[in-house]
This record gives sequence, structure tokens and C-alpha cells, in this order.
Amino acid sequence: MQVKLFAGEIPGAPVDTVAIGVLEGAVELTGGALAVDRAMGGVISQMFKSGEVSGKQGDFVLVHTLGKLAVSKVVTIGLGKPEELTVEKLRRIAGEAGRFLRRVKARRAAVEAFGAGTNGISHESAAQATVEGIIMGLYAFQKYLSKQPDDRTVDELLVVEADTAKAVDVERGLRLGEVVGEAVNAARDMVNEPANRMTPSDMAEIARMLARQHGLECTVLEREQMVALGMGALLGVAQGSSQPPRFIVLSYRGAPGSSRVMGWLGKAITFDSGGISLKPSEGMELMKGDMSGGAAVMSALAAVSRLKLKVNVTAIVPATENMPGGRAQRPGDVVKAMNGRTIEVVNTDAEGRLILADALCYAVKEGLSPLVDLATLTGACHVALGDFCSGLFSNDESWQKRVKEAGEASGECLWPMPMFDDYGEQIKSTVADIKNSGGRWGGAITAAKFLAEFAGKTPWAHIDIAGTAQTDKERGYLVKGATGVGVRVLVSLAQSVAGEV
Ligand code: BES
Ligand code: MN
Ligand code: ZN
Repeated sequence: MQVKLFAGEIPGAPVDTVAIGVLEGAVELTGGALAVDRAMGGVISQMFKSGEVSGKQGDFVLVHTLGKLAVSKVVTIGLGKPEELTVEKLRRIAGEAGRFLRRVKARRAAVEAFGAGTNGISHESAAQATVEGIIMGLYAFQKYLSKQPDDRTVDELLVVEADTAKAVDVERGLRLGEVVGEAVNAARDMVNEPANRMTPSDMAEIARMLARQHGLECTVLEREQMVALGMGALLGVAQGSSQPPRFIVLSYRGAPGSSRVMGWLGKAITFDSGGISLKPSEGMELMKGDMSGGAAVMSALAAVSRLKLKVNVTAIVPATENMPGGRAQRPGDVVKAMNGRTIEVVNTDAEGRLILADALCYAVKEGLSPLVDLATLTGACHVALGDFCSGLFSNDESWQKRVKEAGEASGECLWPMPMFDDYGEQIKSTVADIKNSGGRWGGAITAAKFLAEFAGKTPWAHIDIAGTAQTDKERGYLVKGATGVGVRVLVSLAQSVAGEV
């Protein structure tokens, strides 16, 4: 979908459909709604008075113009009560509005920056949320359907702003929304691919392609190089699979004058069968999405490069399958991570923390700081927080606050979880320095405590996205399947760090 600014009045936009925002409880129409209403002889205000157009959140109404306007259709988008409007709410409404536009066969659509100027929402944020929401909401993964569904998508989207003084802000917002929305969808594409078509080697190929497209530096380590570096924890997981592992390093240098480089780590288990500690078969197909963290950091880095943010970031993606092959590691095996620490593998299904242990060692050795990792790490986090919030864990209060704020700014919910030392008791081992599972209770926290051992003193935050990476229902800008969670947090984090390096 092409996204462009249209600096003019909404009834004059060269499109087939216009979408205008309507607030609940307003006494009369304003902005684009008023302009369209006048051009159409008052039909919208009549429908507003009769209650057919209510402005209630999610109330969308289609009106045909029957030749009164150059456009053939007008769609009113209910934004809810003005005093309750937030940017994230707008993003969700926009996601649903995008799908409504598709349903009414809009091919070229013009929209206002929904909610701009209401409840303190700037034109830039409104435009960003509108475009981001529509791009994410229209996402569909249909490449393997032999017969394409006939609901063709909107090809062109114009964001309308008649006030030339505000057009610059609207354009900046829509570009941000476009880059971020596309990055989220790119991450979703990787996650939705079945595991036979998204192997560790496939992920490495995508990393190389992103590097070429966006001017990133890319290094991919193969098994022998991992052996040489002593990545025994990652190699232990990889040894049960016939797919070779890949250790992907992607770098962006937007602040070449600074030596500070932030590290983004993403778990990339391209399929998690559980290994010898095999998972039950019900729902196992979802474990193709166990590389969601890796997909998010790669896509977010590409977005940061497109936005030319003045930051340095290196993304690290340890990629492997977790399979129960004849060479697979066994429960009870002891492996040695890159920093020399020994780990008793009491459960081969707690593999994410093993590959991240080596990724953290690598990041620390490279001097990356601060660090943040994204991982579909524990079912326990899903149990604790449901599918709305991701869990946030950290060894550094002020860094945790920064990450949390990046979540708030981007509309992605992160909830801080405790990291008391007492939880560390559960992962003490009698045969090695540490063990990889602390059992059922507090499972998300003990997993984070395990990772903290490998982050050492480097400021680090861990985001457990096990509950948020995939969804089984359509909701706002989310559609069934991968959510692309984490991309927005990371881009927002890079924006917040940019400039202060
Ligand atoms: N990839 C899973 C976690 C997961 C579960 C992600 C459900 C998404 C949805 C992870 O590797 C895992 O298996 N964790 C175990 C840890 C346990 C063995 C200590 C879990 O959560 O059960
Ligand atoms: Mn597992
Ligand atoms: Zn896993």
C-alpha cells in the first residue's frame, strides 16, 4: 500500500472512498466530517442527529455519495468520547477502520489523521497512529492459499491535511507510521512462516537481505565458529536438529561519532518441539513462532535504519531448532556457556534461556550496553499476564524505566516483574554452576534470573513475549497469527536514546 500526504480539503481528494472521524457526544460535526457534510447537502449531519452515525468507538457507517461528490463512498469512523481518546486507542480504531475500508471495496482511500487535536493529541501522533493502525490492521498472511480471497486490499492511502502549517507534522507522522507499521508486518511475515520455510539458515538469509537493503552490517556465524567461541549452551540445543544453527549479528551505526552501542537480542528457536523433554502435541504447531523475538529485533533494526535515527544498535539473533533427534542433548547433560559457566540442563524444553545465555555472553564481550532481549521464553509469563502485556525484567532500575516508557510511548504494554534474589535459589544446581529450570512456580521470574547471570553487570532488560507474540483472534490492529510485538517498543527505545549518545 502506498501512503501519501494530500494537502487539501478532504472532499477534493482523488480517491474512491474517504474516511472521516466522528466523536461521540459532539453537538455538531467538525473538521473533515463537516466539510464532507456540506458538500453532500447535510446527509451526514442528518444521520448524526438521528443517531445512525453515533461516533461511538468502533461504529463505522458507509454512505454512498451518488454523484454529489467526486468520491463514490464516505465512511464515518466512530472515535468514541473525546476526553477518553488516546493514541493507542486511535491506533486500534484505525486498524479496524482499515479492514472496514477493505470490506467496502475501497481501493484508493483518503483518511484524516484521526483524532488530531483532540484530547491533546498532536497532528504528528494522530497521523502516525492512523497509518500504523491501518497498515497493521490490513495485514494478511495468504501466500500459501492457492485461491486468493477476493477482498483485495486498499492500494493507496492518502492522509489529508488542509492546513499547510500542520501538513509538515502530518507528513512526518505518516512516514513514521508507515515505517513502523511495515516493520511490524515484516516481523509477522517471518513468524507466520511455517518452520519448514523459516529455518535458521532462512533467517540468516533474511538478515543478509535486510543488510543489503538498509545498509546494515551483517555477520553470520556457523557451527564451527560457535564451537571456536565456546558457545556450548547454544550448541547443546542445536545438536538435536538436522538444521544447522546460525548466530546472526546485524549492526546499524547511526551515530558513528559515539562508541556507545545498544544491544538487542532476540530468541530465534525456529521450531520448539521441547527436545527430549517433548512438548504435548496439542498446539505444538504454534511453536513455529518461537523465533518471534529474533524476527522483532531484525525488523526493528531495519526500521531504525530507514528512519536514520542517530543511534548505534547491534542486533544479535541466535537461531536454531529445538528437536529431539538421536544426537539431541538429554535431561541431565551439562553444557558450558561462552563465559565458562557450566549449566545443568534439567529440562531440554527450557532452551530459550540456553541460546540467550551465549548471546548475552557475546554481547557483553562485544561491549554492547545497555542490552534488551525479546523472547517467547515461558508459558508461565502467559499465565501471569495473559495476552495483553509482556513481562519486563531487569537488573537496572533506570534502564527498566526507560524501556517501560518506550512501551508506553509506542502503545505496547510492558509490565515490570520482580527479580528478588530469593528466586535465584530455585536455579541452583549441585552438579553445575546453575541449572536451566527452576520448576513450575514463578517460572517467568526464574527464567529471567537465569538470564541475569549471563548479563552480569551490564544494564539489561528482558521482555518475555510468550503470551503476546501470537493471537487467536482479530482485535484492533491485530489479526489472527503473529502480532509483531516488540518492534514498536524497540523503535521507540531507539528514538528515546537517539540524540543523547
Ligand atoms: N517456547 C517456550 C515458551 C512458550 C510457551 C512460548 C508457550 C509461547 C507459548 C519455551 O521454550 C518453553 O518451553 N518454556 C518452558 C520452560 C519450562 C520447561 C521451565 C515452559 O514455559 O513451559
Ligand atoms: Mn521450550
Ligand atoms: Zn522455546
